[in-house]
Amino acid sequence: MASTTALPKLYFGTTTFGSSHIPTLSDPEFASHFLDVVHDLGITELDTAARYPPDNHGGSERMLGTVKANDKGNNSDGTLSEEAVRKSMASSLKNLGVDKVCILYAHVPDTVTPLEEQARAFDEQYRKGFCEKIGVSNFPAETLSQLLAICEEKGYVKPSVYTGQYNLICRAPEQDLIPLLRKHNMTLNAYSPLGGGFLTGKLTSGNAEGTRLDSAYGQHFRNWYDHPEFHAALRKLMAAIEPLGIKPAEAALRWLAYHSALDEADGIVLGATKVEQVQANVADIKKGPLPQEVLDVIAEISQSILETQRSFDVNPAALPPK
Ligand SMILES: NC(=O)c1ccc[n+]([C@@H]2O[C@H](COP(=O)([O-])OP(=O)(O)OC[C@H]3O[C@@H](n4cnc5c(N)ncnc54)[C@H](OP(=O)(O)O)[C@@H]3O)[C@@H](O)[C@H]2O)c1
Repeated sequence: MASTTALPKLYFGTTTFGSSHIPTLSDPEFASHFLDVVHDLGITELDTAARYPPDNHGGSERMLGTVKANDKGNNSDGTLSEEAVRKSMASSLKNLGVDKVCILYAHVPDTVTPLEEQARAFDEQYRKGFCEKIGVSNFPAETLSQLLAICEEKGYVKPSVYTGQYNLICRAPEQDLIPLLRKHNMTLNAYSPLGGGFLTGKLTSGNAEGTRLDSAYGQHFRNWYDHPEFHAALRKLMAAIEPLGIKPAEAALRWLAYHSALDEADGIVLGATKVEQVQANVADIKKGPLPQEVLDVIAEISQSILETQRSFDVNPAALPPK
């Protein structure tokens, strides 16, 4: 549980960089300015991937390389064979213009390549000094458990970071995944803290026109979130926080930072389409823990959310098309 004094670390995610849906973020000058603002907010680590943005794979990495952003995370392209990981690592280092990344991530599970080969592939990149840590993203708890067992048996470097979707509505990780991460001393970086924009209430209030959720880009988030029971939960939250002057995005971020299963060794990967959004989100987090009356409503809606048993699984086939 996040304490009131020490926060999970904040990261900035760049899935929107280089996207044709957001013309300003295809402009290196503006992207550079955006990253300056992020840096001035005290966020020094960025999250990117070979798959970002969904409509222009590699565009985010190239943009970060162009504007000389440093300190990066990255991923393979979905195929985690030894050869594919070698190529992906080399291409990411080139795109980014760096010799080494902080965390080399397996972005999504590869259900074809044997796990032993995947573990060996990560170990090779780590031993060559191309990354400081190995991370996995979107791996189901069971697959991660098998991967960890192989690493222990063969003496390969173990992944020490997990990145996964976790927010006020997406609570599935609390069941099996987070206990497994704690057992293996792995940290959790929670992405999509606002459910790709759903937790701003735009879609629920009918104001999503022109936003990510209204585009092909946001379709996979709509598949996860655009369901009557989640709208009902959000409406209940909005009714409770409106009189207190708290916006839904603020409630979601403050919950994640102070009341969720994250602790100070974990992280929150913030996302934004506009500079003002990341500024507002960091300022909201700094407001501290939520009032008890809001937590009581969140406890109520959490129960109904968990009962829906909806899956937030990510697999390569479910990712946005090239
Ligand atoms: N490893 C993985 O598989 C994976 C998957 C997803 C994301 N990630 C990483 O996590 C990062 C964050 O995820 P995310 O972008 O989905 O984060 P998010 O915070 O859930 O959604 C961000 C979107 O919400 C809207 N928004 C944000 N702040 C707002 C505010 N204050 N007011 C109104 N609207 C606001 C913006 O879209 P609109 O303005 O268009 O509504 C913004 O693009 C990504 O950039 C990426 O680096 C990793």
